[in-house]
Amino acid sequence: MTPIHSQRKRVLSGMRSTGKLHLGNYVGALQNWVGMQDQYECYFFIADWHALTTDYADTSQVKQNSVEVCLDWLAAGLDPERSVIFIQSHVPQHAELHLLLSMITPLGWLERVPTYKEQRENIAEKDLGTYGFLGYPVLQSADILIYKGDFVPVGEDQVAHVELTREIARRFNQFYKLRSKEVFPEPQALKTKAAKLPGTDGRKMSKSYGNTILLTDAEPVVRQKLKTMVTDPARVRRTDPGNPDVCPVGDLHKIFSDTETNAKVDVGCRSAGIGCIECKSWAADSLVRILSPMQERRKKYEQNPRLAWDILEAGSERARKVASATMNEVRDAMKMSLEFEAPGSAQGAK
Ligand code: TRP
Ligand code: SF4
Repeated sequence: MTPIHSQRKRVLSGMRSTGKLHLGNYVGALQNWVGMQDQYECYFFIADWHALTTDYADTSQVKQNSVEVCLDWLAAGLDPERSVIFIQSHVPQHAELHLLLSMITPLGWLERVPTYKEQRENIAEKDLGTYGFLGYPVLQSADILIYKGDFVPVGEDQVAHVELTREIARRFNQFYKLRSKEVFPEPQALKTKAAKLPGTDGRKMSKSYGNTILLTDAEPVVRQKLKTMVTDPARVRRTDPGNPDVCPVGDLHKIFSDTETNAKVDVGCRSAGIGCIECKSWAADSLVRILSPMQERRKKYEQNPRLAWDILEAGSERARKVASATMNEVRDAMKMSLEFEAPGSAQGAK
């Protein structure tokens, strides 16, 4: 294992354990993470406790889902030699810090988080009126602060959570100091320049819409999914000209195809010189070109599933070391260290 250079800024991010990942997860986060590994000291974890905030009633898939996410990460190019890759629930210190941060977090801050109301209303089939769901952003703050992350690469929807993390860090630092120094640096969100990736029905690609292309989809599956993909509704007949700027397949080309192909699509679509079937087959070519090296890399882990688990265990071990060092500081700052103190000798400024 290459030693981690402490001069490098630390990046930390997590993903809920939702099972197999799709292209939207890739362009929205994973691709970006893969590219950060040389420049930063990276911690990437599978947020299985966060998955419980909505899926608490049936936990039978949680562990398997974590492994699936890990396989997709490794396939996409996250490298355990360079990054610490682990499972949140294997580092119990996250829960300990979450508890302490929950003591100092005003309820109003949590009720104001935009995703809170939104999701409670949108996910009507589950009862999200739980303590854990309200506290989701506090757990996320603990995840970030326990590694003293400098940067947190996230999508637009998570920026408010990183903002809240900064506020919680500030509040902690105001209450408690360690040898008159602040314990937690304020992390900064690195917003992913997310190209909006449409799914096969033209809406945003999302597991809940059933419109995804998975990183594990084999070539025939990709081609079949592309065939069913919606196109510019103005192009009813082959002879009708279309507009790639309002076509989901056009969006795929912009994200995944080279400039030459994009030029062919643009001219051909607008002049009705090409048909949608042909255009879609080019889009499928581009997707296959991205996916096949991932699927190739994945084989090694699929043949020996133990490998991925070993990586997660080793990563969790490294993460626990860092996390427990932070917790020692937290305990010290809060005057609740594990060291013996004679009764009555209230600890002064240490
Ligand atoms: N809430 C994030 C999401 O749903 C996942 C997450 C959990 C996370 N803890 C984190 C992201 C810490 C960044 C940092 O995508
Ligand atoms: Fe969309 Fe391509 Fe058909 Fe144009 S030719 S409408 S870009 S699928």
